[in-house]
This record gives sequence, structure tokens and C-alpha cells, in this order.
Amino acid sequence: MPEPKSTANENDISRDRLAELLNEDLSREYQAIIAYVVYSQVLSGAQYMDIAAQLEIHAKQELDHALIISRQIDYLGAMPVVTPKPVRTSKNAKDMLRFDLENENDTIRNYRDRIRQCEALGEFAMAEQIRQILMQEQDHQIDLATALGVDVPDTSGGPKSRKLGKRR
Ligand SMILES: [Fe+2]
Ligand SMILES: [Fe+2]
Repeated sequence: MPEPKSTANENDISRDRLAELLNEDLSREYQAIIAYVVYSQVLSGAQYMDIAAQLEIHAKQELDHALIISRQIDYLGAMPVVTPKPVRTSKNAKDMLRFDLENENDTIRNYRDRIRQCEALGEFAMAEQIRQILMQEQDHQIDLATALGVDVPDTSGGPKSRKLGKRR
């Protein structure tokens, strides 16, 4: 029977490929650390005081994630990368929060895939570690969406949800 050319095959990966994908996750974690360090300090205005304090907490959590992901990459016999994905900047508070939200959405989609891939490889403990990270990323997403006054984006449901940049 012909397999649909999507998730089933994407989840069927080697340990080397998993390490490569985790290195991309690590680059995203570095990006998040940098963005939250900077944005938490430069966000100004009374209406952003709460979220600025939350972003400081996010920064520290992203560092924890980077450590956990690096450990998994090392365990798979690969070398953790040292380069962040590019960090966008803006003088505008809403832009900064929007960039963060977009990055969190992307991170969440990736970790959902990663959990399935870990499980397909029988790496159940690794899947569990990533689940713990995913829970915090979803909290970050909610904090940012709330600060922006938008609905939490729907990133559920695997590859189809990749198309969801906007609401229907
Ligand atoms: Fe993270
Ligand atoms: Fe995050």
C-alpha cells in the first residue's frame, strides 16, 4: 500500500539525522536566549512591565533547554553546534513580542516532530526530556500571545499545521 508522503516517512529517521535536527533545535534555543536577554531589558512602557519580567524568566529557561538538548546531541555521538539562528531586532515593542511568538511557534512545531522521531527510534527517555521542554515552550507562547492580545496560535496536528501562519 502506498504511504502518504508525509509524517510517516519524516518520523522514520536515523540517529545521525536526529542529531542533526537536534542541532537545529539547539540553534533555536541559542536564538531564544539572546532574544530574551535583550528584549527583556529594552522593552519599556508601563504596559510591558509584566511581560518584560516574564521574558527574563524565559531567558533562563531557554538556557536550561540548550543544556538539555546539548546533552542529547552528545549522547547521540555528535558535536553540539555553537551558532544561533539569526535574531531579529526592532525598536518597536510589539514587533519584538511578535518575533518571539513566531519563534516559539516554530520551536513548538519542531519539538512535536522531535518527540515522534525520538519515539520512532525507541529513544523514550529523550522523548520525555523534550516533552518537558515543550511544556515550557507552550507557556512561553501563551505569555507572548497574552501580552500581544492575540489568540494562542494553533500549532497542533503535525505537518498540516505548518501552513497556519494566520488564522482562518
Ligand atoms: Fe527553549
Ligand atoms: Fe521558549
